[in-house]
Amino acid sequence: MNRRKFLQTTGLTLGAARLSGVLHAAPVTAVAAHPDSFPKNFLWGAAIASYQVEGAVHEGGRGVSIWDTFSHIGGNTANGDTGDVASDFYHLYPRDIDLMKDLGIQALRLSIAWPRIFPTGKGKPNQQGVDFYNRLVDALLAAGIQPYCTLFHWDLPQPLQDDGGGWENPDIPKVFADYAGFTAGFLSDRVQHFMTMNEIRSFVELGYQQGIHAPGLKLSAQRVAQLNHYAVLAHGMAVQSIRAHARPGTKIGIADNVEAATPALETPEHIAAAHKAMREENAQYLTVIQEGRYTDLYLKHLGADAPKFTAEEMDIIRTPMDFVGLNIYQPTYVRADDSEKGYAVLSPPASFPHMYSPWLYVGPEVLYWAPRIVTDLWKPKHIYITENGASSTDKLAADGHVYDSDRVMYLRNYLRQLHRVVAEDVPVKGYFVWSLLDNYEWADGYDKRFGIVYVDFKTQKRTRKLSAGFYQEVIRQNRVV
Ligand code: NOJ
Repeated sequence: MNRRKFLQTTGLTLGAARLSGVLHAAPVTAVAAHPDSFPKNFLWGAAIASYQVEGAVHEGGRGVSIWDTFSHIGGNTANGDTGDVASDFYHLYPRDIDLMKDLGIQALRLSIAWPRIFPTGKGKPNQQGVDFYNRLVDALLAAGIQPYCTLFHWDLPQPLQDDGGGWENPDIPKVFADYAGFTAGFLSDRVQHFMTMNEIRSFVELGYQQGIHAPGLKLSAQRVAQLNHYAVLAHGMAVQSIRAHARPGTKIGIADNVEAATPALETPEHIAAAHKAMREENAQYLTVIQEGRYTDLYLKHLGADAPKFTAEEMDIIRTPMDFVGLNIYQPTYVRADDSEKGYAVLSPPASFPHMYSPWLYVGPEVLYWAPRIVTDLWKPKHIYITENGASSTDKLAADGHVYDSDRVMYLRNYLRQLHRVVAEDVPVKGYFVWSLLDNYEWADGYDKRFGIVYVDFKTQKRTRKLSAGFYQEVIRQNRVV
């Protein structure tokens, strides 16, 4: 799409664009078209996940998840924090929906807790769990907020881990696909978008390789490669199962945290290197899901540890999706290199700025390059930014407000790059800020806050942060403010 066409989709002509200085300077009383506007139907959302917000772990017939077990073992999480209560969204969701409505949020990305639907992972569904998500979805729709549902955001039912090793079990793809099909089956009369899984890389590498997330295992390279294969196979089988059980027209995707290769310099050689890196660094995740094959370099690097697979499995893994969801936080800068790979990954210098989480380097242009390169490589039908956001040391000020100027700075700069990519021929249809609420940040507990709304975890009181006001205005004006 060229600039003229883009301006037309936003309701502007080039002539009107010349007046933009006037529009910009005028007090904003009505939502006026602007050269920085996002397309008219661009979707502005927020994201949460079941174990991170719901709490109520013993209510509604919910079974135990691997995160309940892991977080209750001393030393596994910051301050011994668990998701037992979290942001109490299970009880407080009606209020949180009012809050979202007030902020103008148009869509909520939420996840379904597998152990609420199948307390032991499979078998007979738990009606109370089904009822809870039905109520939640109905309440969102009544408020004019579209639900986007993720089927697995890491809360694996504990019995599936105990019996067969969780994602190590060759039967898990089928078990997951059955759960996904059942759940999409009862929700798809009202939910139009499903994501099979959230961040396969994270739950595989942090949970089964490094042992710092549930279930806390440090398996060999060979076992990790094999269970990773079962995870991508489970994704593919779930896409097919959802398609078989959900209403025709239901859109199915994934929420993936690609290693977001970003050119160190925006020159042709480094841009080409970033394209190579995007494929190679995501070989066992988005690349195999898009292409139905592991890259030669991935298999060569693993050697005898490479996963065992069949051609039929590879066909299932690459089952076409309707959209690709990208969770984008920090860039991985790459440069051109003469090595076999054709690129080298730069390690961030010690002085590289980051948000409160030490891994969260600030590189706004990643929100341009990740969707740009994913589109160049695989041409997905649609892309959503299924997560983007920042942790901060948020504190309530004496006047009762939370002035998270660092998060506003982060979001403003990232959204400018999102606007840059949306103006090109890249089909990004929506953006979900992580997160609506402060919540349980896994092994980092409650110390690393990501919400645009502050949660006092003692009283469950919600306080809108400065960033909530920023996001509200972005949505209202449909442009970066
Ligand atoms: C990715 C995960 O999907 C989410 O659960 C987590 O809280 C955020 N990133 C921030 O780390």
